[in-house]
Amino acid sequence: MRLTPARSIHGRLRLPGDKSISHRAALIAALADGRSEITNFSTGADCASTVACLRELGVSIEQEDDKLVLAGGQRLVAPQRPLDCGNSGSTLRILAGVLAGQDFSAELTGDRSLSSRPMRRIIEPLELMGAKIEAHDGKAPLRIHGSPRLTPITYKLPVASAQVKSAILFAGLNAEGRTTVIESSPSRDHTERLFNGFGVPVTTDGDLSVTLEGPARFSGGAIKIPGDVSSAAYFVAAAMLLSDSQLTIERVGLNPTRTAFLSVLSSWGADVSTTDLQTERNEPYGTINVRGGIPNHRQGGALEGGLIPSLIDELPLLAVVGSQIDGGIRIRDARELRLKESDRLATTAANLRAMGAEVEEFDDGLHVSGLTPLHGALIDSHGDHRIAMAFAVAALVAKGETEIAGAECVAISFPEFFTLLESVVRR
Ligand code: S3P
Repeated sequence: MRLTPARSIHGRLRLPGDKSISHRAALIAALADGRSEITNFSTGADCASTVACLRELGVSIEQEDDKLVLAGGQRLVAPQRPLDCGNSGSTLRILAGVLAGQDFSAELTGDRSLSSRPMRRIIEPLELMGAKIEAHDGKAPLRIHGSPRLTPITYKLPVASAQVKSAILFAGLNAEGRTTVIESSPSRDHTERLFNGFGVPVTTDGDLSVTLEGPARFSGGAIKIPGDVSSAAYFVAAAMLLSDSQLTIERVGLNPTRTAFLSVLSSWGADVSTTDLQTERNEPYGTINVRGGIPNHRQGGALEGGLIPSLIDELPLLAVVGSQIDGGIRIRDARELRLKESDRLATTAANLRAMGAEVEEFDDGLHVSGLTPLHGALIDSHGDHRIAMAFAVAALVAKGETEIAGAECVAISFPEFFTLLESVVRR
């Protein structure tokens, strides 16, 4: 994909459904007693992996474009072949929690990237609950031997992770008694919100401890998935960096565990506001309005500590934005970024340097110097959708042409990305 610099961004957009919410809605609907209708389902390949795995587990799912209908009252059955989770960590980890509580065995596999990611973080709690899991040095493929009557646990997560928290909560549906997950810093809370929205009460103690009482079953229902706020982030950042831009994104998810990047951009002087706040099955959504330019140019600063989990998917993008603001940006406590679809600290640093930025890399973060003119370069996405999209934004503010190798990987979360970007860019 070749990209040339842009003058500004103008328009009004609606985005495909949030990836994290789509995975969970499909899993909940597959396990629910009643009929469910999911609209604005994510168009990304990751959520298609979740749907394909559920079909292999005997769940009948009617799909027409972004609408899924599930009859409810279905029973999962032993799959005939390994369940292919593709590139999707959420599919593999959360489905492992579902399979832990079944009366059959199943194998979960993934692509090269997913097979290199750490799985001990789910193996340990799910085995404590009574499942048996075979792995290859703590990695996929995983063979899960389920047990329909799991033991409830209270489990303190060694690292904040919504995928691990969700795996334990889904397993807790088949445990007799109270399952509690305690985090050190809050990660995204879609599972908790949707469980409550579909008839399984989850109680929270502060924002670090969540409990559910099993066994429990979902009631089905309708949900229209809010637009993906992590996909919106690329448009918001591009509009902020290109003065004279004016962009509105409607019906986009505004869950506070996902919108920290908006507060960070505002703290750097961006003119961003949210309006029309509503909720869908406990998930807040609304409109994001951005005007271009940084009217009150304020110093960037450090992103670290408990803030990191709520910015986790936006950090490569914030590193790109950081190269354009006064004072640059310092990211610490983000070692987890090395364990995503690519080593995002390494891939962000290398690509920023290729465009002329000054970057220091730490084992848990980056320092990017500010107010640096970027130039077009050959970018390697490393097959990582968020790297490809973050550097598409960098390309718009750079001088000269940029080529992004492997840009088709945006389809993992957002196949429409380049088409929608071109529809709002002015050159
Ligand atoms: C996700 C959680 C996050 C995020 C990922 C999606 C989820 O990972 O990076 O893209 O859907 O639960 P963590 O498990 O590290 O929180």
